[in-house]
Amino acid sequence: MSKTIIVSNRLPVKISKNEDEYTLSPSEGGLATGLGSIYKKGNNLWIGWPGIEITEGEDRDKVINQLSELKLQPVFLSQEEINEYYEGFSNDVLWPVFHYYSSTYAYYKKSNWDCYRAVNNKFKDAILKVAEPGDVIWIHDYQLLLVPGMVRNCMPDVSIGFFQHIPFPSYEMFRLIPWRDELLKGIFGADLIGFHTFDDVKHFLNTAARLLPVTASANVITYDERSVVIESFPMGIDDKKYAALPLKNAVKVQAELIKDNFKDCKLIISIDRLDYSKGILQRLQAFELLLQQYPEYKGKIALYMIVVPSRDSVPQYAHLRDEIDKRVGNINSIYRTIEWNPINYYYRSIPIEILSAMYSVADVCLVTPMRDGMNLVSKEFVASRINDDGVLILSEMAGASKELIDALIVNPNNAEEVCNAIITAVNMPLDEQQVRMRAMRQIVAKFNVSHWVKIFMDKLKEVKQLQRSMQTRHVSGATEQSIINRYHNTNKRIIFLDYDGTLVGFRSNIQQASPDQELYDLLKELTSDPANEVVLISGRKHENLSEWFDDSKLYLIAEHGSWFKQENTTWHKISGLTDNWKHDIYPLLETYVDRTPGSFIEEKSYSLVWHYRNAQKGLGELRANELMNNLKYLASDKGLQLLSGDKVLEIKNVEINKGKAALTLIDKNDYDFIIAFGDDYTDEDLFKALPDGAISVKVGSNFSAAKFYLRNPAEVRKLLTGFTRSQDSRIKNREPLLS
Ligand code: UDP
Ligand code: G6P
Repeated sequence: MSKTIIVSNRLPVKISKNEDEYTLSPSEGGLATGLGSIYKKGNNLWIGWPGIEITEGEDRDKVINQLSELKLQPVFLSQEEINEYYEGFSNDVLWPVFHYYSSTYAYYKKSNWDCYRAVNNKFKDAILKVAEPGDVIWIHDYQLLLVPGMVRNCMPDVSIGFFQHIPFPSYEMFRLIPWRDELLKGIFGADLIGFHTFDDVKHFLNTAARLLPVTASANVITYDERSVVIESFPMGIDDKKYAALPLKNAVKVQAELIKDNFKDCKLIISIDRLDYSKGILQRLQAFELLLQQYPEYKGKIALYMIVVPSRDSVPQYAHLRDEIDKRVGNINSIYRTIEWNPINYYYRSIPIEILSAMYSVADVCLVTPMRDGMNLVSKEFVASRINDDGVLILSEMAGASKELIDALIVNPNNAEEVCNAIITAVNMPLDEQQVRMRAMRQIVAKFNVSHWVKIFMDKLKEVKQLQRSMQTRHVSGATEQSIINRYHNTNKRIIFLDYDGTLVGFRSNIQQASPDQELYDLLKELTSDPANEVVLISGRKHENLSEWFDDSKLYLIAEHGSWFKQENTTWHKISGLTDNWKHDIYPLLETYVDRTPGSFIEEKSYSLVWHYRNAQKGLGELRANELMNNLKYLASDKGLQLLSGDKVLEIKNVEINKGKAALTLIDKNDYDFIIAFGDDYTDEDLFKALPDGAISVKVGSNFSAAKFYLRNPAEVRKLLTGFTRSQDSRIKNREPLLS
């Protein structure tokens, strides 16, 4: 039976050594707690680091046995690897850059990067030991960005999902990392790439388009000939577990103790791992501001703050811990009274019973990270409020704020806003609390962790099917041979060839894309067969095609069908076309050229083209969209069509299209072999117009109305050469041309 292999840096349990015994305890952090609560349910295996260095072989065996009972498999790391891969690169480069702290904290050191690569390789080896064909491999988080690519190299067909639990930053941040291309290529080993929020998806798509040679269609990116889907899947929690906990005796006992301790106070809780991204110092500042500016709340509110130890061997974290100690000490020493302590601060991990008791008795939960991929604490608080009361204050920088919109949403940098939100929260009437909390509880229940796993896995299956269906359409092997056989079994053929992007690659200067000798020879061979009508059907100007192909036997169609020319004749244009509209549109296009360096206008007889291939990436696309919107109504009034091609936007008479032009030729003869090749939007008209038995081939990507696709002009030339080569060899072998 096939299985799912979950892979993350940390296992959901960590190991500690007490004298000679190894003991297991739950790991901290959203990934481990969220997924840890359900991974045992299916046929799953989890690979990860057990949290401490274990050097002795005998000890390792002991740990392997202990963990295997829980369907966990350890990857052991040496102290040096922990220092360099985990602390040095994952937490000293990727964590700060991805949380927008690069200028303060990121420290780029080549040896740490080398170690990151080596440890990712180690994880890959661990996966390969257990992975079998048909398995699904689900890799998690920023510590393992290279693993998807490494596994893909060894198992080209396996299903790989990747999920990142922290934010994906804007391109401006990501580009700072010296090893950015390699990291991105590593992630692209996956078939499905998931993030918590749509903002992360947008940042990732933009970064990929700017750094790698990818083709993108909405959220599907074709990289290295594989279609990879990028989507947001907001992670949920095991809501039922958190709703059931407050009913347990052990939790009730703890809840009573807490209530007793904070009898006359409104209780505000705050729970985070020790991390600068969590905004703990800023939260203390807002709390102090409240005590300063609203002395009437002294003795009436209390902050119960848990900071869970994390990464404290990384210097920034140790420093943060000292700062928190100092700040809490200061506030308490200034505002404390004999009966009342404003902040109750604990630097420790707490058992789930105390956590649940805190969640269920607090009046307010204060969650104010400066950046957070999701933040599960906020969802756990909501799920624990079985009486639908309590108030959540939530930072707009946490992924969860996109779902929990009934929380009091705050900007964590704005101390006054946070301070006012606390005042609003502690004074909120019960009925308002309940309206807000019910709405949030519904969301947390519907989008729980099982739902998260299900929609991710369903999508991964869908992506695999999409890839497989595309593979069958790629012209190679048996498909290629059958097309070639069909070619030779027919004697009245018509072959439509688009030019740019189909027979030659794109150049930054359109004049440079002239035909090479190989292409001339190929076209000569094709046209020399009297059974062939070879039609060059292009968007280029007729003068341009004349310059290159006047001496050939090609049938030429220029400007998408406005002009046509048979061998040995002159150019003709289709009747009834007008170009009066150009007077209005040209000046408008000029304003776009003025605002978009690198772009220019090409004027054809019956169309105008705005080219932006050499404009700054992203800016060209932005302006093209703007131009489309600008022209939408004007174009339909004037009977024009807007065509968005490969880095061009073309405005032309609506009567002209490659499909119509092709049909006038097809209708003239009884062709028994019709084939068309094209690479962009304008060729789709051609593909759609062809009769049923025709063969249509899209070049460059696999999203098309065409029946087949080829990857690039070289593959087109190879297929066409296939037509002529077999002909040659048949002649050489004196075989009949048509069998
Ligand atoms: N948590 C924990 N031990 C504690 C207190 C909290 O494991 O002593 C859990 C908490 O219940 C939550 C997770 O740690 O599930 C924190 O996840 P979150 O997404 O809020 O932040 P992250 O730590 O992943 O950045
Ligand atoms: C966040 C990360 C996890 C990480 C956790 C705890 O939730 O997304 O990948 O495991 O923090 O951090 P730690 O460094 O202790 O594993």
